[in-house]
Amino acid sequence: MSRPRLGVLISGRGSNLKAIIDAIAAKRLDAEIAIVISNVADAPGLEHARAAGIETEVISHRGHASREDYDRVLVRALQARGVVLVCLAGFMRLLSPAFVDAFPNRILNIHPSLLPKYPGRHPQQQALDDGATVSGATVHFVNKNLDAGPIVLQREVAVRPGDTADTLAERILAVEHALYPEAIRQVLEEGGSG
Ligand code: GRF
Repeated sequence: MSRPRLGVLISGRGSNLKAIIDAIAAKRLDAEIAIVISNVADAPGLEHARAAGIETEVISHRGHASREDYDRVLVRALQARGVVLVCLAGFMRLLSPAFVDAFPNRILNIHPSLLPKYPGRHPQQQALDDGATVSGATVHFVNKNLDAGPIVLQREVAVRPGDTADTLAERILAVEHALYPEAIRQVLEEGGSG
């Protein structure tokens, strides 16, 4: 039987993409990455895909008449590869309803906080500013509201005295790398509706 085809969207470093690639290689995740799309031409994460022999495509968000127009191009690229689950991995663009409606309950995102706490930008700094003693990582379904869709998995990370946004981000990231493949596996196993 053919394995479920993932589409991974990135904008930068791609360490979560690498974690998904590694989980598939280690047979911890039974799936195949059909395509990695970046909106940034020189995103370092593209190298992880190329090194693994995965098809990549750069689709810049520039030069489109609207966000919807851009999203329709993304959707076509994903659908053309038979993608059944879209994984946002550091993709720094907001998705329009045009995208969300094309993959109902079929888009995941990873966010470095325990949502609904600290959505949006700089969640690690938000946690520190809030005096939190615990933060973490969340994998959630993407809906039309930012960082607000149903939660698939979360894992806590302690905030240590003296943490900076960078030190906290680093420890959360290590947890993300285990959490994202696990969440993808869970969603694929649950199948259908998500
Ligand atoms: C991660 O912290 C992820 O939670 C957030 O963006 C960062 C992406 O990192 N959405 P990477 O590109 O996967 O290394």
